[in-house]
Amino acid sequence: MKPDRNKKKTSGGPANPSAPTTKRSTPAAGGSKRGSRGNSEDSEPTAGSEPVPVWLFVLMALMLYSGMSYLHTYGGGFNPKVYENFRSYKLVDSANPKSGPEMLIAKGEALYMVCAACHQVNGMGVAGQFPPLMGSEWVNEPNPARLIRIPLHGLSGPMQVKGQDWNSSMAALGSALSAEDIAAILSYIRQAWGNTAGPVTPAEVEAVIADTSSRSMDGSRPWTASELMSIEVAQ
Ligand code: HEC
Repeated sequence: MKPDRNKKKTSGGPANPSAPTTKRSTPAAGGSKRGSRGNSEDSEPTAGSEPVPVWLFVLMALMLYSGMSYLHTYGGGFNPKVYENFRSYKLVDSANPKSGPEMLIAKGEALYMVCAACHQVNGMGVAGQFPPLMGSEWVNEPNPARLIRIPLHGLSGPMQVKGQDWNSSMAALGSALSAEDIAAILSYIRQAWGNTAGPVTPAEVEAVIADTSSRSMDGSRPWTASELMSIEVAQ
């Protein structure tokens, strides 16, 4: 190999004596490269020696300042309500206008938080303390007249839910919630977690309130399960 390369160089040498010299000197030292360029290309402008003009710094500072102040004024603090207000299809859906029962159910879902403290967000209750609303025969009864009475006046004493015995008491919420609120909550729980009963209208709640005007809503006279069962209800 080596002898071969040497041979090429030596053979090229005689043809153009100046060429090999330049070639060899170019990679050898940077100094000689610069020198040779300077010599052969005098007209080329030199770079790197001019100072950057001050006005350019001033312009950059101004642009940065105006950009930041624009963001500050119109950026809304990068508030997620502005920039991420529709993070899921559910949020888009909830922003759309709804029909009557849908609106009631959506309102009930939010108000259900009152009940979730005991019956839990998943409607499963707490074993031994709070009975489940999911799959409960009290919640899913086609006629809601008994069910409406439970949050209105409270419920106390022994009862059965899904074949299990309970004996506790639930406070009355009738004075804290409007008829529409109660209709909304009950409409929600009757279709949540796989429950399949129909919605409850505010008018149905108002009718029960009128029927039970002798019973106070302050929780001093909660219903018992046997009392509720003795009420005549059209199915
Ligand atoms: C402070 C806890 C608590 C809160 C809040 C509460 N409940 Fe109850 N709930 C109970 C208890 C305890 C019982 C069982 C009462 C008994 O054993 O007689 C019960 C029973 C029930 C029942 C009948 C049994 C069943 O599981 O189906 C329904 C229906 C019901 N609650 C609905 C509601 C609704 C609707 C709300 C919200 C508006 C609510 N509860 C809020 C504790 C609570």
